[in-house]
Amino acid sequence: MSSPILVTCGLPYANGPCHLGHLRTYVPADIFVRALRKMGQEVLFVCGSDAHGTPIVVNAEAQGLQPKQLVAKYHQHFHEVFKGMSVHFDFFGDTDDPACHNRTQEMVKALTEKGYVYPREIELAYCPKCERFLPDRYVEGECPYCGKPARGDECDMGCGRHLEPGEIKNAVCKVCGGKAEYRKQIHYFFKLSEFKDFLLGYLETLGGTASARNYAHEWVRQELKDWCITRNMSWGVQFPGHNELVVYVWVDAPIGYIAFTEEWCAQEGKDWRDYWKDDARIIHFIGGDIVYHHCIFWPAMLKGAGYTLPSAVVASGMLKIDDKKFSKSRGYVIWVKDDYLEKGLHPDLLRYYLASYTAHNKEVNFAWKIFAEKVNTELVGAFGNFLNRALTFTVKNFEGKVPQGKIDPEVNAKIEQTMKEVVFGLEEYEFKKAVDSILALADFGNIYFQSHEPWKLIKSDKASAGEVLRSCLQIAKALIIFMEPVMPSKMEAAWKQLGQGGSASEKPFQEALVPLAEGQSLGKPEILFSRMEEATVKELERVFRDRIEQAESRKSVKPTELKEQISFEEFSSLDLCIGEIKEAGSIKGSDKLLKLAVDIGKETRQVVAGIANSYKPEDLVGMQIAVLTNLKPAKLFGIESQAMLLAADVAGKAVLLRPSEKVETGTKVR
Ligand code: 2FM
Ligand code: ZN
Repeated sequence: MSSPILVTCGLPYANGPCHLGHLRTYVPADIFVRALRKMGQEVLFVCGSDAHGTPIVVNAEAQGLQPKQLVAKYHQHFHEVFKGMSVHFDFFGDTDDPACHNRTQEMVKALTEKGYVYPREIELAYCPKCERFLPDRYVEGECPYCGKPARGDECDMGCGRHLEPGEIKNAVCKVCGGKAEYRKQIHYFFKLSEFKDFLLGYLETLGGTASARNYAHEWVRQELKDWCITRNMSWGVQFPGHNELVVYVWVDAPIGYIAFTEEWCAQEGKDWRDYWKDDARIIHFIGGDIVYHHCIFWPAMLKGAGYTLPSAVVASGMLKIDDKKFSKSRGYVIWVKDDYLEKGLHPDLLRYYLASYTAHNKEVNFAWKIFAEKVNTELVGAFGNFLNRALTFTVKNFEGKVPQGKIDPEVNAKIEQTMKEVVFGLEEYEFKKAVDSILALADFGNIYFQSHEPWKLIKSDKASAGEVLRSCLQIAKALIIFMEPVMPSKMEAAWKQLGQGGSASEKPFQEALVPLAEGQSLGKPEILFSRMEEATVKELERVFRDRIEQAESRKSVKPTELKEQISFEEFSSLDLCIGEIKEAGSIKGSDKLLKLAVDIGKETRQVVAGIANSYKPEDLVGMQIAVLTNLKPAKLFGIESQAMLLAADVAGKAVLLRPSEKVETGTKVR
């Protein structure tokens, strides 16, 4: 028997509604699972709500709810949206389930017994006014690596690093806004550094998207610090033996994958160990922003505690809305329930868009115009048109029965070739390639119908017209079977129109080559896909634009906090000058940083700047900018930065400071 397969999806935080960015991972994972089942594999597909972590506590407090109530609300929401989008998990759990608490404590104990968890005294941000330690999102300040404003656990506006407790500088309490101080406390660390060699080897063999593997490999090669796994909170999984501590949310969240498997197995009378203690294929579908956690922390924890390691991590590219970076605060967001499902749009259309727009690891851009264009040309014009033509012609001219005659060998060959491409595409997580091949088969069908002119043949040679239609109906059958994982409910409807019994979802890909029985009655042909009219698109765009406008009007520029005064001597110690950017390029693995060569008059400096989301490299070359040249060099992404560019920080977007007229390169700034 082949090893069982477990497919998981990154757990959504039960902290806000489902948006299109979520679906970028869940829809392809669901397509993949449906396709594996068509290939005869037994697959278990689990996911659940990520219930812990500081953002949930902060948000619950703000809404006057208990964390548990907030989690229940969004857990239910995700459950409904997934159902609405035909994303069908075998089990959708919650990391606050007892199974997850128990499994987390078991794993932490196992890691502790093996010597992988140890106590260390660290200095943590503490708010004297609120009289509490400030974990993760309870604190804001400056990134110790790049100096940019950062959250307690992540440098989200600068270098993108994960920040360990106590690392953040100039900490400010998020609750009262007061200056935090640093106090010593014992916390527990996981010896991640001991797993370096293991991870280097493991990542070589890890399947999934190359982008995930390479990104993680680079991090492991450069630095692997031990990882603080405890937090001062009460909401979460208690750290064994310490009432005042819970484990960090990124410890219990992936353990949810195991707990959900256990819960499903308990329901079904199966053994969860078949998946997590034996030879199983574990495949994680995740967003591209959580590769670090899934390819580094998680396999090290599993290895240390003696569990089966994931065999693939499939990371999706990020989402853009109308060519702009996805951002809830700026209004660049599409809410799946309010903006899509409740507008009466069919889930399969969006599933099709997400699968076919671009390669899975690339950035997807969503715009209502493109959505309508894809629906109208690809689904209405090509795919739906072919199915409808073949069916209506048969109903009209052959009493709605599959005509007699031989299926054209050219048609069989094309179906077979498409099947190979579809299977290959799906197995390689190349969903777009699979969908493109199916569309190419629909195009082939349309050309076949058009070029064989059955409407003429029917008058002179009914038997030949019948053969053409028999071949066309065979193409229709193949199209439905191949497309079913992508558009499950539309294809079930098409399957009925083709007069077939059972469910299209149960038909293996191979079934596409089994000839339709001669004389078999078809169902009633109906239009599968309707055109999206201009007025509908305009209305959807209006909702989106209104949201952006509202977000903009809400955004008032926050005055920068005033710092302590400094003397003129202190200011003079800064070496500021005007430099000229000579070269600019991206940095592999970072979507925030650019590598620049900056001429500062007497020499050229290498600079790593967090400006990739504001400037394109080609627009920077030749630009004069203000530079601080005597800042101690720092390494970012393993590249030494030997100076710092000055920029205005506009809601996280850098706007470079430039002289109002061209000056000599190296001119001093005072
Ligand atoms: O980044 C996130 O949205 C997390 N809630 C994902 C957790 S995935 C896993 F590790 F559980
Ligand atoms: Zn940083």
